[in-house]
Amino acid sequence: MSTRIAVLCSGGGTNLQALIDAVEAGTIDGQIVLVLANASKAYALERARQHGIPAAFVSKKQAGSDEAFNDVILEKLRAADAELVVLAGYLPIVGRQIVRAYEHRIINIHPALIPAFCGPGMYGHHVHEAVLAYGAKISGATTHFVDEQVDHGGVILQRSVPVLEGDTPETLAARVLTVEHEILPESVRLFCAGKLGVDGRHVHVL
Ligand code: GRF
Repeated sequence: MSTRIAVLCSGGGTNLQALIDAVEAGTIDGQIVLVLANASKAYALERARQHGIPAAFVSKKQAGSDEAFNDVILEKLRAADAELVVLAGYLPIVGRQIVRAYEHRIINIHPALIPAFCGPGMYGHHVHEAVLAYGAKISGATTHFVDEQVDHGGVILQRSVPVLEGDTPETLAARVLTVEHEILPESVRLFCAGKLGVDGRHVHVL
């Protein structure tokens, strides 16, 4: 039985698109049953609709508090019978009620090589600006399981890219995004194939 996957997004959804493409190509033994976004204009919602995937905007403002917002999300995940949650360019911190309900079943993609350039405030262009400001020579992307700390759960896959002379945050972001689009579908493929073994904070590809 293929894994029921829910994807949470905040923006353009290019990582969601990479997942949709991999599912439709038969690479992933799973089905995307729900896409949620915390921004009503997130193009990720349009991508989902173009592929006949149920999609919904969840408003933190309307919910009234972080706790209530995450309760709404958890309720929708359960209604969709989601078995795996993927954070694909999702900016809010996931509430602990969701992390506890989906222990070792939430995968996040981060546009740097954790534990470098991660943690609170390190998202989107802030990450690449920090890499360039530091003078790092490589960067890359990380997929990891989500736990109750930010960007802290067990690392699943990492892939590096060079930082080149003259790079701007935009040119580096684009280079990192290409490897995000490789390791996120691969991480989800491994999960759906039951090939990710967890031993404390160590994740083994079986
Ligand atoms: C990008 O900065 C990506 O590095 C991070 O989230 C942002 C938007 O990704 N994971 P997407 O195009 O919405 O998937």
